[in-house]
Amino acid sequence: MVEPRDHTRGVPDPILHIEGLSKRFGGVRAVNNASFAVQRGTLTSLIGPNGAGKTTLFNLVTGFDRPDKGRVHFDGHNITGHSPPEIARKGLVRTFQLARDLSRLTVFENLLLAAQHQKGERLIVALVPIPMWRSQEKANSERAEELLELFRLTHLRNERAGNLSGGQRKLVDLARAMMMRPSMVLLDEPMAGVNPTLTEQLLERIVALRDEGLTFLLVEHDMDVVMRVSERVIVMAEGRVIAGGTPSEVRNDPAVIEAYLGVTVDRED
Ligand SMILES: Nc1ncnc2c1ncn2[C@@H]1O[C@H](COP(=O)(O)OP(=O)(O)OP(=O)(O)O)[C@@H](O)[C@H]1O
Ligand SMILES: [Mg+2]
Repeated sequence: MVEPRDHTRGVPDPILHIEGLSKRFGGVRAVNNASFAVQRGTLTSLIGPNGAGKTTLFNLVTGFDRPDKGRVHFDGHNITGHSPPEIARKGLVRTFQLARDLSRLTVFENLLLAAQHQKGERLIVALVPIPMWRSQEKANSERAEELLELFRLTHLRNERAGNLSGGQRKLVDLARAMMMRPSMVLLDEPMAGVNPTLTEQLLERIVALRDEGLTFLLVEHDMDVVMRVSERVIVMAEGRVIAGGTPSEVRNDPAVIEAYLGVTVDRED
């Protein structure tokens, strides 16, 4: 029997490292003994057919769901089972496949609120002198304006989030994540429903942020995008991690072709 390959090996300076992560929903093994690592400062993509377990894995890593088994290490901390705000404070944030902004607040208010949640608002109000609190607020406002500009959302600044289109809500969700000044962002199909021109601009922004040192783990179904922007690719199918490597290694991996096309490919070697 062939031993499963260890996709945590050969990844220098891992910022995220998951080991033997599993989650079952009734009879469905949504995530099944998944292990891999993500190198700091890279853009790594997580791909796999619909239902492969990618979103569930994101939920387990960011504390939105608890694993049945396994461990998650982020930046030297064991964060398994920690709450989403605790994990966000350590610098690991995520966006949602279905954007979850607060629909009755404006776009600008949504951004400010994301930063306040991050810092633990009540504690700051209680402990920090008012002038310092004000300067923090000012810094947050400036950051929010910058991000609105970056994601071409300035004209929607005072619009209620609930009135935005699906694609616009995804951009707000990404801007909210960036308000938390993360060191790593998990992106769950950030480009789905976003028009092609904006998709290109978004990709450029993501790559530029990566070049500044931010780490991304990207779930994306568009293989052209994945192959173009990723340094590494991790492939899931039916809850398992079935392959990991550079885009060209993964593209030629028979297990990946089989998972996507349902055909068995004979190895030439
Ligand atoms: N809360 C839940 N309760 C029951 N089953 C669930 C739940 N969440 C996910 N599943 C199941 O777990 C499996 C993995 O789902 P998941 O959403 O993680 O897949 P995915 O890889 O993100 O798929 P897609 O590419 O379509 O977004 C699916 O079979 C799904 O039906
Ligand atoms: Mg999903």
